[in-house]
Amino acid sequence: MILPGSYVRDLLQQVPGTAATARGWVKTRRDGKNVHFIQLNDGSSATDLQVVVDEGAVPPEVIARVTTGASISAAGELVASPGKGQSVELKARTLVVHGAADPEEYPLQKKKHNLETLRPLGHLRARTNTFSAVFRVRNVLAKAIHRFFQERGFLFIQPPIISSSDAEGAGSMFQVTTLDLENGKRADFREDFFGCRTYLTVSGQLEAEILALAFANVYTFGPTFRAENSNTPRHLAEFYMIEPEMAFCDLNDDQDLAEAFLKSLIEQVIAECRRDLEFLSKWYEPDLFQTLEGVLAGPFERISYAEAISLLQQSGRSFEFPAEWGCDLQSEHERYLTEELLKKPVIVTNYPREIKAFYMRANDDGKTVAAMDVLVPRIGEIIGGSQREERYDLLLNRIREQAAHGMKEESYRWYLDLRRFGGVEHAGFGMGFERMMMYLTGMKNIRDVIPFPRFPGNAEF
Ligand code: 4AD
Ligand code: MG
Repeated sequence: MILPGSYVRDLLQQVPGTAATARGWVKTRRDGKNVHFIQLNDGSSATDLQVVVDEGAVPPEVIARVTTGASISAAGELVASPGKGQSVELKARTLVVHGAADPEEYPLQKKKHNLETLRPLGHLRARTNTFSAVFRVRNVLAKAIHRFFQERGFLFIQPPIISSSDAEGAGSMFQVTTLDLENGKRADFREDFFGCRTYLTVSGQLEAEILALAFANVYTFGPTFRAENSNTPRHLAEFYMIEPEMAFCDLNDDQDLAEAFLKSLIEQVIAECRRDLEFLSKWYEPDLFQTLEGVLAGPFERISYAEAISLLQQSGRSFEFPAEWGCDLQSEHERYLTEELLKKPVIVTNYPREIKAFYMRANDDGKTVAAMDVLVPRIGEIIGGSQREERYDLLLNRIREQAAHGMKEESYRWYLDLRRFGGVEHAGFGMGFERMMMYLTGMKNIRDVIPFPRFPGNAEF
């Protein structure tokens, strides 16, 4: 096992003269005159460690097996490196090949790859420079999220993954069952494992509300599932969502928190992953730093849905879906607003109630609800949230209105109870972890920011 201090990242920081053992996978081997140069990485570093083996130090049949993809360990001494990009290299006295990778067969050796051709190689692509950079950023982003909330006293909670309620009312859920559905009989879900129909959760929000009304400030960070058949570069069937929920909080506080959250994550990731972001920027998104630093530079724009619609109407653009009051903002609308017109993150609030979920708080105009979406250039919607309806009667009416769409009042008894016993104004939002990853890394396809993407037609690896 590699212990702290012995990762490639750590060895590269050592002073010349230190004895060291490096372990990892070979990126390349180059043979010079009387010397072999091996680029080695264990996934910990944007820079490889160069291992130098003098001719004769290691038997030729061992060196022959040191090819791209092989796992090796090399022991020796770190010496000052004449090459640029690293201050030390490892002069190896001994070298062990743990697992060879036949150069005739190893897919990452054989031909040039792009993101698309790497996708079917989900078991190997993490060894490429691009994916190791992306997944290191993913790790730091997760840490940054916890740090942001922990520093503010939020309680980390775990809502269930198997759920009997449709939190978003969107009706695009994966059903979970142990019934034998192949025997041709009509399924009776009272006989199912849980005695009712159950699904993979689309959002932990309703459960987060339960805990927010006990701990005031809570957050979730876990997998969510949506069976919508959207084969787009921004949708996954299984993705991670972060959902803070705050009691004694209105829509303004909610927007402030969302803005502080995004800024803090960008700051933390730039500070800790500069080398990885530089690499990703070079290959995938030249404006990456400019965009991210731009977000930190000033306040987000805040406009109402009604203002958004009139800006879209005044734009002189012909959108595929014309913008009219009452329509849901399409991705083309969101991107026009944030990317072209305002050129910064935009928070759009107060959407028509018809197009938003049942739990959002009704505004006094009778037409809109206290919803907010945070839109950012390149991505569109990155955060969706709202103030929740805390008034019992209004919520009950709203649930009853939805009965036609299959919403059962008795399934929401507990949710209504929260309004009967110690209810208080509260609000929250959900951020798509992979959408944030796309924003931070400049990757254009959401399937390239999660190790094992789930989308229609794909559940391999
Ligand atoms: O806007 P959504 O549907 O909001 C909710 O689920 C609320 N319950 C959140 C809350 O108020 N607690 O989803 C929140 C975010 C979106 O803004 C988007 O970033 C991401 O989750 N998201 C997806 N990411 C990847 N693939 C999908 N299919 C996604 N659907 C939503
Ligand atoms: Mg949304």
